[in-house]
Amino acid sequence: GAVGQAVSTGAVPPGGHIDELLSRAYRHAERHREGAVADYIPILAQADPEAFGLCVADVEGGLHELGDTRTEFSIQSISKVFVYALLCDAYGHERVLDVVGVNNTGLAFNSVVAIELNDGHPMNPMVNAGAIATTALVAGDTPERRWTTVLDGLSRFAGRALEVDDEVYRSESATNHRNRAIAQLLGSYGRIEGDPLAVVDVYTRQCALRVDARDLAVMGATLADGGVNPLTGERVVSADVCRDSLAVLAASGLYERSGEWLFEIGLPGKSGVSGGLVTVAPGKAGIGAYAPRLDPAGNSVRGQIATAYLSRALGLNVF
Ligand code: DON
Repeated sequence: GAVGQAVSTGAVPPGGHIDELLSRAYRHAERHREGAVADYIPILAQADPEAFGLCVADVEGGLHELGDTRTEFSIQSISKVFVYALLCDAYGHERVLDVVGVNNTGLAFNSVVAIELNDGHPMNPMVNAGAIATTALVAGDTPERRWTTVLDGLSRFAGRALEVDDEVYRSESATNHRNRAIAQLLGSYGRIEGDPLAVVDVYTRQCALRVDARDLAVMGATLADGGVNPLTGERVVSADVCRDSLAVLAASGLYERSGEWLFEIGLPGKSGVSGGLVTVAPGKAGIGAYAPRLDPAGNSVRGQIATAYLSRALGLNVF
């Protein structure tokens, strides 16, 4: 595969076969116990803090897995990039650019003040405000139709039929006052057409989709592969949309930590509060990680450390 090519062309230290490097990255990251499992969505607090899975999916369909790569968790914010890509594919990124934006807020993912500071503009599709504004634009005359579009699209990225974790959906629905406030605020600025709370409901379902680290790697590999899922061979979005989505991730994929991430890893990535992390090496591979302990910005600690190791060992930094 393409990652193997990087190995054989001398981009990594001698003896660096992909599986050996994966195992070194895993053991290196496994020592880290800092960070905390998210608990603002009550059910997420039940996650096993020691769970750790790491998977590389290359653009030729090769899979390399270690640890808990088949443990399912809710996709959370990682859904944002894939919904954004589907929307850009449907409408063209210019229209979405205008409504949602592509600049980092420098503030937390669920910031309300960021909206106020920017005259009601959500700024980028990776923070909650921008993701809710993005989901609001998904085609469909009813929330149910919009939901089907999201579900089908994300399933095509994963190459299998994804399902909602009902417990997570209910737990977040019962406690997401802040997202409802964000949506109402966007509505007050005329940035959401229709019922803002119906949009939050679709967004909450999209965040509750169950995936594993292997799914994330395949979804990332689809973006790495110019929009073609390397397992199914299906084109999910255009190559232009992949390029634009990866640029947005580079700027905002890890929220206010995006600059540090890009500096250390040099690849676009997206985190989620349940501990998932997807990283994209354009033209080469997707890396999926799952480890629920998070840094203060809401990014998987072990996921970041393992990905940094792999990026260096495989020479994946795009800069
Ligand atoms: O809207 C929320 O708060 C969650 N459904 C998703 C947030 C999230 O994953 C932030 N990422 N690290």
